[in-house]
Parts: sequence; C-alpha cells; structure tokens
Amino acid sequence: MARHLITSAIPYINGIKHLGNLIGSQLPADLYARYQRARGNEVLFLCATDEHGTPAELAALAANVPVVEYCREMHKVQSELADAFGLSFDFFGRSSSPQNHKLTQHFAGRLHAAGLIYEVTESQIYSVTDNRFLPDRYIAGICPACGYERARGDQCENCTKQLNPTDLINPRSAISGSTDIAMRETKHLYLRQSALKEQLDQWIDEQTDWPILTTSIAKKWLHDGNGLQDRGITRDLDWGIPVKRGAKAWPGMEDKVFYVWFDAPIEYIACAQEWVDSGEGENWKRWWRLDEGADDVRYTQFMGKDNVPFHTLSFPATLIGSGEPWKRVDYIKSFNYLNYDGGQFSTSEGRGVFMDQALALLPADNWRWWLLSNCPENSDSEFTWESFQTGVNKDLADVLGNFVSRITKFCQSKFGNKIPDGGSYGPVENEVISELALRLANYEAAMEGLEIRKSAQELRAIWAVGNEYLQKVAPWVTIRDNPTQAAVQVRLALNLIPLYAILSEPFIPNASKMLLSAMKAPTPTWPIDLDTALKALKPGHVFEVNGPLFSKISDEQRDLWQEQFAGGREST
Ligand code: MF3
Ligand code: ZN
Repeated sequence: MARHLITSAIPYINGIKHLGNLIGSQLPADLYARYQRARGNEVLFLCATDEHGTPAELAALAANVPVVEYCREMHKVQSELADAFGLSFDFFGRSSSPQNHKLTQHFAGRLHAAGLIYEVTESQIYSVTDNRFLPDRYIAGICPACGYERARGDQCENCTKQLNPTDLINPRSAISGSTDIAMRETKHLYLRQSALKEQLDQWIDEQTDWPILTTSIAKKWLHDGNGLQDRGITRDLDWGIPVKRGAKAWPGMEDKVFYVWFDAPIEYIACAQEWVDSGEGENWKRWWRLDEGADDVRYTQFMGKDNVPFHTLSFPATLIGSGEPWKRVDYIKSFNYLNYDGGQFSTSEGRGVFMDQALALLPADNWRWWLLSNCPENSDSEFTWESFQTGVNKDLADVLGNFVSRITKFCQSKFGNKIPDGGSYGPVENEVISELALRLANYEAAMEGLEIRKSAQELRAIWAVGNEYLQKVAPWVTIRDNPTQAAVQVRLALNLIPLYAILSEPFIPNASKMLLSAMKAPTPTWPIDLDTALKALKPGHVFEVNGPLFSKISDEQRDLWQEQFAGGREST
C-alpha cells in the first residue's frame, strides 16, 4: 500500500470562493485523493484557510466584526461549502491556529540560527490617523498619468499604469481616507533565499516529470534578472503571527507579524498537527518527518500558477534552511486560469459563479464533472453557460444517466426488480469485458499521471461502452426469440452499474453513492479482475431504481442563469 500526502493551496479567508478558485486547486486535489483512496492506498488530504494579511483585516473591518471573529465565521462557511462540494479533506485547518503560530516561529528561529535571516531598514508610508503602516495598495490618490481620483499605490485601475505610492498626487489612506500620512522608517526581516539558490536549482532540475507550467515558472524566478531574490518575511500589521525566534522574543520586532506568504505554506504541516490534536489523526510525523517514517510518502501539491513560485522556491527554502529532515513535495500540479464568459472571474467585482450560488442551482456532481473535464490544465479555459449545459446534458444525462435508466427500466418491465437468471456470458460479452479492461488501463494511467482532462475522457468512454453494448445486442429484440440470451445481456449491463459507480466516484461521488444504493450493491473495491467484477451482482439480486440520476439543463434555464449572473454579485 502506497502512502499519499496531498495538499491543496489554502484559500484566502476573505469571502466565498468562485468556481475558478475551486478548479485551480481544491477540486483536482480532491479527485486525486479520492482516486488514491479507491485504489486502496493510504491518503492524508489536507487543506485550510489562509487567514492572515491585510485583505482579511479589511474584510473584517468592512463586515464590522473583529478580525478573529470574522475568520472564525468564514472558516465555518468555507468548511461547510467544501463539504457540500464533496471535498474530502481529512482535515480543514486554519493558518491562524496555535499550531501554526508555534511552528512558524520555530522555522524562523531555525533560519535565524542558520544565518539565513537579516534585518533591513526601509522607509514606508505610515498613516498617523490609522496608526499603522500602509501597504502600497492601501494608499489611494490621483493618478499622475490620467488624473483618475482613486488610483492605488501599486497601480491605476483606470489607465493600468504601474505606480509607486510616492507617484500619487494628494496621497491618502485607502482605509480611513486620511491624508495625515508620512514616510517612516521601519525594520524588516529578509530571508536569504539567494544563499540556497544552488540547492533549489539542482532540486528543480531533478524534477523531470513535473508539468512544464510548474518548472518553467520556477526556472524563470531562479534565472531571470539578477536571479533568485531575498524576500521580506515580516510586515507591520496587527493581524498575523507575532515575529519570534521559536518561543523567544525578537528584539526590535515586537510589533510585527510574519508575512502571510511565510506562514501560509507552513500551515500544510501545522494542519497535520491540528488533525492530530483534534483527535482525528494519530501521528503527523510519519507524514512530515523523514526521520519518523515519512520517507515512503509521496507528496503531491495542487495550486494555481500564481502560487508556483512560493511552492517551488520560498517554501522549500524554508524547509531546507531549517536544516531539519522535513518531507518535501514530490510533484506539483499547477493550473492555468478558468475564465468566466469572455472575461475573468473576479472576487472583488463579484463576477462569475461562486460556490454557494452554484450549489443553489444544481447538485455538486454537475459542477464537479464540468469543472474537472474542462479544467484549465494546458491552457486557460472558459466557463460558459452553454458549455456547462452541454457537458451536463451530453455526458452525465445522455451517456451515464441514460444508460442506467434504460437498462434498469427494461429489466424491471421484463424480469422484475432483480438480476435475471439463466445462460452465461458469451463472445460478445467477453469482447465488452476486454474492451473495458483496455479502457480501464488508460483511465488508471491518466489518473496516475494527473492528466485530468484525459481521465475524464477515458471515464466518459467507459460509460459509453454500456450504451454501445445495449445498442449492439438490443435485449429488447433478443427477448422475443431468446429470453435466456436477453437475461445474459441484461445481467451484464446491470453489472456495469456498480463498476461505473466505483470508477466514477472520484469525479461524481454523490451519483456514485446513489448508483450503489439503487443496485443495493455492497461498496465494491477497485476492479482488479473485470471478469469477476462484472459477475458481482448474482442472479436473483434485488435492486430498486427511482427517478433519473441527472436532470437535463433546459435552454430556458441556461438563458435565465446566464442573465441572472451577468450583473455580478455584491462582493462578500
Ligand atoms: N491563499 C493563497 C491563494 O489563494 C494560497 C496559499 S497556498 C499556501 O492564492 F501555500 F500558502 F498555503
Ligand atoms: Zn491612471
């Protein structure tokens, strides 16, 4: 039995995630976790909310609740939506957990002891009224290029010009609007990533099987310009993990917190500790420490392409720099972006479909199937209501759903609610079994290789085999002259249903459950021998199918939704 550690990039706490976020990390990670479990492997699948940083502070401010409370509530909301989408995390932690505080401070202490951290004095804009330093994007003012009144310190939204905060005319705090701002000196900690460049470079070079998207981004950061840059790992904020060296104070750093991107990936490890401390897990070290049994773990990370530099360089630098035997990632699956109907999904503008809205329209499996079979794997991809309608209607309703309802209804009308008796599989049935064996091997290979679109195609082809078989042998014709032969045909077709249930489970777990309960089949294990698997439901076995598995999306629904969503939602 292999052991798989699987993590999804941890979603920011501020607001409900949209479908583009979902398909960019959590959903494909879930597909893989479910597949590995179905193969009988041991899996630890972790995710969490990414709770620190200015966006969380400001979202709490806008919601008029203390940030601690805001995060607690939003973690609950995100956790419930994850459940509703069937995301099968073994634990859904929080980057603000005490475990992560302690571990982040521990890493900082180790990096400091290894001489990998140094202090830099910088001058930064301070808002006297807000009593805080302002990050660039929280300084507003008039754009020197186009005169737009609400340009931000990093960019003008109107003319897209990249700006420095000092370029702005009449700069003010975007938080309070106050113009009582001044430059002040402040000290920050930098992580000497440049000292680890050779090691990182060599490690990335060894990863010959990683997606090009992943390695090309890593190499760009390693080699472009002056090569790998050192990185500030502290911020002048209230909300975050206090800067300490292990349990000890860090002189001069008393009012600062770690930068959110320093503590967030450490949460992958802290999350396993939370899992243990919650009483659900037993031993986190055998997943994370090479000196405690993690050497036979295969670790796979899932993320959007914007996350790649942090996972290929910064987080590994933290782990290597600590000098301790931490498990490092074996494979990074990264994604391009999913666009929404000719533009981008946008949380700030409320553009697109958000997780809660999606579930209010249709069951999770519909979304899971469309998103996974159209995921932005080798290029960006696009959600349109028409494509969604086609995917649901053609693949789920016409191919899988129709097969199931056709054969079960036919059986019910001719043989009753049970697997018919008589005869045995002949050459045509054996041919079907061999074809399925080939297709199954392709499906498994695509899943192992994390070729997600390809796996979806292979699965769809496996479903289609059922319809093709029925079309070919036509039990409704056979039954006129040869009821025994018809019984054989019906029996094979009905036995395909539990097979489809187990093979489809990683994509559409709820439909899979419904199929198994309709067939009153015990939960099957992954088929090793198809011949045996397709005889699992014995003559006389009773089943009960009610209603269609998937409903079709009508043109009216499609148009209505398209229109409803065109206006965007209020930002959360
Ligand atoms: N919150 C980040 C995002 O959504 C991802 C953080 S991943 C981790 O883009 F590595 F920091 F954990
Ligand atoms: Zn401008």
